[in-house]
Amino acid sequence: MTGPAAGAPAPAELGALAADLAREAGDLAKRRRTEGVSLAATKSTLADIVTEADREVEQLIRDRLRQERPADGFLGEESGAERGQSGLTWVVDPIDGTVNYAYGIPAYSVSIAVVEGEPEPERWQGVAAAVCAPGLGELFTGARGEGAWHDGIRLAVTTETPAGALLGTGFGYDPATHDGDLAMVRRVMPIARDLRRMGSAAIDLAYVAAGRLDGFFERGLNPWDFAAGAILVQEAGGAVSRLELDAQRPMVVAGGPSVHGRLREIISGDDSRM
Ligand code: IPD
Ligand code: CA
Repeated sequence: MTGPAAGAPAPAELGALAADLAREAGDLAKRRRTEGVSLAATKSTLADIVTEADREVEQLIRDRLRQERPADGFLGEESGAERGQSGLTWVVDPIDGTVNYAYGIPAYSVSIAVVEGEPEPERWQGVAAAVCAPGLGELFTGARGEGAWHDGIRLAVTTETPAGALLGTGFGYDPATHDGDLAMVRRVMPIARDLRRMGSAAIDLAYVAAGRLDGFFERGLNPWDFAAGAILVQEAGGAVSRLELDAQRPMVVAGGPSVHGRLREIISGDDSRM
């Protein structure tokens, strides 16, 4: 992990920019949704889709960042990576929850993080984040040392789960991975009061930050799926980590400190307390 980028703006300032970009990008995504969705391509599998809007929204964010922060790097789901010179990288998922978007389910989001250090999740340090869910009319923001926020209210993860934890998860697009994901669900259910699979990992993590979920776990997420949400959870007093049980598909685990710890124990097989 490297130290703060020399001459970098304060996290709060970067957070305000992330929020503005996420709001503007969210408005565009929502507008395009009302005009009708056109599929642009499939990616890793037939179920893994990209719409014209995903590409257009990412381009908007990338263009704005080129104007506002020309020396920063960029890592986006649709247009790839470009190293910068400032030590900061913007990690962007233009529409997280693309399948919801395509089906007209409003749980999709624009996810924007700015991170410091090498542009790899294990080596970067989160600086600021915004997750905007325009179909739900919600914006979650956070900046290092400044907390995580929604509608002027400071967010805090849950700490008590007397009736069991309300957990979120997600499944990969490749049908060959579904059995393994379902087996993991079976393993964690003893500590759950119930399970939600909403279809946008960025929203799931924002909900953990907001105390709407007690915890979250998912295998095989890409960095842009969780970069912003992880910052929100950490700023809300929670913990986020990755377990490399399968090097190809690391497991992201998030929650309040105790649920995060229990999930890690169960998922890594050290579940003697179950
Ligand atoms: C997907 C969503 C979904 C998760 C998938 C992700 P996308 O992102 O975050 O909740 O279960 O693993 O790929 O493809 O809609 O940007
Ligand atoms: Ca995504």
